[in-house]
Amino acid sequence: MSRPADPRPGLVTEARLDAAARYAGDLWLPEHPYFDAAEQVFEPLWTGLILPFLEGADFTCVLDLATGRGRNAAKLLPLAQRLILVDIRPENIAFCRRRFGDDPRLSYIANSGYDLHGVPDAGITLLYCFDAMVHFDSDVVRAYLAEARRILAPGGRAFLHHSNYTAGHDWLKAPHCRAFMSKDMFRHYALKEGLQVLRQDVFDWGGVAGLDCATLLARE
Ligand SMILES: C[S@@+](CC[C@H](N)C(=O)[O-])C[C@H]1O[C@@H](n2cnc3c(N)ncnc32)[C@H](O)[C@@H]1O
Repeated sequence: MSRPADPRPGLVTEARLDAAARYAGDLWLPEHPYFDAAEQVFEPLWTGLILPFLEGADFTCVLDLATGRGRNAAKLLPLAQRLILVDIRPENIAFCRRRFGDDPRLSYIANSGYDLHGVPDAGITLLYCFDAMVHFDSDVVRAYLAEARRILAPGGRAFLHHSNYTAGHDWLKAPHCRAFMSKDMFRHYALKEGLQVLRQDVFDWGGVAGLDCATLLARE
């Protein structure tokens, strides 16, 4: 059944968010060659890039947003008391269920692609997203930042790896499929959603200078 026409075409409605999320999310089936390749090269990224950002984080209840086949989750699980895996593709959530089984610390959510329904308010101590938000439409990023403000516990943090590319508007035509986003735009969105920006590091990706940014946010 097709969706009804958007009655408010100028606004960022759910129908528009849904379309934007699907445009960047639909192709990431577990069979995508990305997943095997990414798993092979993860160790230096985890130790060299990610872990320094996680210093001082509270791992009581961690949410891995856009978990894919769970390479980040495999690193987060030994640190976390609870770990929630979220992905737009139910097939990836099914893959993670097979990978991690019924470990009582884990829960799984196949989500809409723009909200975190099912995650209670103020319960997450660390929101984590690596190598996925780089592809998300800016409206979707903003929607997730609003959700971050809702789900983070007081003092909780968010580690979010996002694009720093503003030379094109179609993620599929951009270097390394980066969506339109910048360090400053992300900071602006986070501040507007009531989050504190603790740290932002711009870094190279795949030989492209300054393509990406990692931002650490806090909820006061
Ligand atoms: C490049 S893969 C990265 C997966 C994982 N983060 C990793 O580092 O291995 C991108 C992932 O984001 C998921 N995804 C894409 N758009 C999404 C959205 N709007 N909300 C949640 N997940 C999304 C895809 O299904 C896919 O699993």
